[in-house]
Formats: sequence, structure tokens, C-alpha cells
Amino acid sequence: MKIGVLTGGGDCPGLNPVIRAIVRVSLKLGHEVLGFRGGWRGLLENDSMPLGREEVSGILHRGGTILRTSRTNPYKVENGEQRLLENLEKNGIDALIPIGGEDTLGVAVKLSQAGVKLVGVPKTIDNDLMGTDFTFGFDTAVNIAMEAIDRLHTTAESHDRVLVVEVMGRHAGWITWYAGIAGGGDVILVPEHPFNVEDVCARIKRRHQNGKDFSIVVVSEGAKVATEGEYDEDGSYVLSSMKKDAFGHVMLGGVAKVLAEEIEDRLGFETRHTVLGHIQRGGSPTAFDRVLGTRYGVHAAELVHEGKFGRMVSLQGNRIVDIDINDISGAIKELDPDLYKVAEYFAD
Ligand code: F6P
Repeated sequence: MKIGVLTGGGDCPGLNPVIRAIVRVSLKLGHEVLGFRGGWRGLLENDSMPLGREEVSGILHRGGTILRTSRTNPYKVENGEQRLLENLEKNGIDALIPIGGEDTLGVAVKLSQAGVKLVGVPKTIDNDLMGTDFTFGFDTAVNIAMEAIDRLHTTAESHDRVLVVEVMGRHAGWITWYAGIAGGGDVILVPEHPFNVEDVCARIKRRHQNGKDFSIVVVSEGAKVATEGEYDEDGSYVLSSMKKDAFGHVMLGGVAKVLAEEIEDRLGFETRHTVLGHIQRGGSPTAFDRVLGTRYGVHAAELVHEGKFGRMVSLQGNRIVDIDINDISGAIKELDPDLYKVAEYFAD
């Protein structure tokens, strides 16, 4: 068989281990692999590269993706689907392995329904994709954010300051919660629970009355501000830009700056903010992400070899399984409410 592979959406550490595993296993099982560059853009424009043993040598520990990535949405391009199908045919691709998050795999679902034989691999550092317990890249991002919080702790303590740190997480607070708990954050704010500035200030004030002179607030970029004085379940984003990507997502960012200013104005405590941004997506994957990426890649290649298509590989508990790819569309996997409750015990 000739197998096509692409990586779409935001990059994250662990993509190269997946690609390496798909290629190594597929070659061993007697298949050939072709990579499309830059996500769906590569398949639309027929921009490809052969993937052999040599191309995937020495990439296990490298962040990013040797295939490059983009947020190209083929369904926003004229005759997009037709062009994808034609290029699959032109290259003699028998099966496709798209590696991506809700947007990339959303396109994969449509292609699968149009008859393309494919197996999806879930990816997002946000860890908010339905159908799998963890996505690779998440653990690396959490460790980067935790280390940043550790560093912010010592400087916050030395200066008696409040430090607000903004971490990635568009719709779900997984990175915020894990990094916040691991780093001992005093206030943890996630998109699932719109926050009230008054309440955040009250918590910090209580902590300072209890003898602490500094505080760390960990906030998701997608955390929403509730209507003043009440808890509005919808809330609204703080946005530094109104730009949208090809899948219609607004570009988030700016909540930490606004919140830091509010805390300083309302409490009079010197407050600074830090935005971790794309640092969380860069650099080498952790051991967990290298292993998870490798296990996903192996299972995806095995499924293709066995002719089991329309599936997505998935981690459930400690087992790699596969589910119907149609089951992932639509909903976001929100932070487990039980985990959120844990953070509440450490709130002040
Ligand atoms: O989807 C993953 C993610 O890292 C989000 O956490 C973040 O909001 C977004 O991508 C940033 O996208 P971009 O890299 O296009 O700026």
C-alpha cells in the first residue's frame, strides 16, 4: 500500500515521534509512505515528500514537525474536496493518516464520509479532543508551564508581588489546571468556569491576610470574565485581536494583562503578568509525549495494514485503542469537574 501522512493545525512536541513510528512500522509491514507538507495545504497543492528510513532518522527528540503544518481549511477553498481527492488519486495513495486536532480531524471525518480510507491520530496540546484521555504535546506544555510557575514563584516572593501567568487553552483548562496544581498556583482560572474579578481579588486578599506576601494566579488564555457581581455561565473572552483563523477561531490572548491591572488597581498589591504563549509548544517532547506519540503511530500504521479505516487511535486508561472517527466531531472535552474541585481546596 502507499500511505499518505500529514500534520495539521498548531504544531506540538510529539508529532515527529508519531511520523517516525508510522514510517518505521509501515516499511516493516511492506508499505510505502508519502508525506504531504503543511497539513491540508500540501494535499491541496500536491506538495509532498517521500518518507523513508533516512527521512525519519534522528527526529524522535525533535519538537515541531518535519512535515510542517498549517491551519488550511480545504472546505474554505474552491473545489477543495475535489482537489484533495484528485491529488490522492494522482499520487496513488491507498490510505491516509492525518495527524491533528478537532479542525484537521474534522476535515478527515468529511473525507472519510466521502470514501477516503483513513485513520486519524489525535493531537492538541490543549488536550481537549473528545475520544481520548490524553493527546501528546500536552504533557510537554504542562511541564514548560510548571517550570515557568516555579521561576515566577521565587521572584514573586522576593518582591512581595502578585504574578499572573497566562497559559494556552482555548476552550478547556487542562494545561492551566495541571500546571497550576503542579506549580502550586494560588488562583487557577479556566475557560469552563467564567471568573469574577471581585472574587479573584477577595481570594488574594484573604491569602495575604493569612500571612502571605505574594500570590501566583494561573489563567487560561481562553478564560472568560463573568458579568460583574454574578456568575454568568457564558462570560466573555478578553481579546487582544479580532482576527480569526481559517476555521473561524478568534486569536486569544491578553487576559493576564487586564487581570493584573485590575488586581493592582483594586488591591494596591504590586502585580506583574507573564504570557507563556508559543514557548509552550516549542522544544523537545517529554518522555511521556515521545512514548504516547510512538504508540499512536504504531497503532495507526497497524490499523492501515489491517484495512481498518474510518478509525481514530485513542488512549483509554493506559491502553491504546481505536474508535470510530465520526464520534469525535462537535464537542470539546472539558476539564473534569472533579479536578476543578481539587483546585478549590488550594484557593487561598
Ligand atoms: O490549538 C492549540 C493552540 O496552541 C491553542 O492553545 C492556542 O490558542 C492556539 O493554538 C494558537 O494558535 P496559533 O499558533 O495559530 O497562534
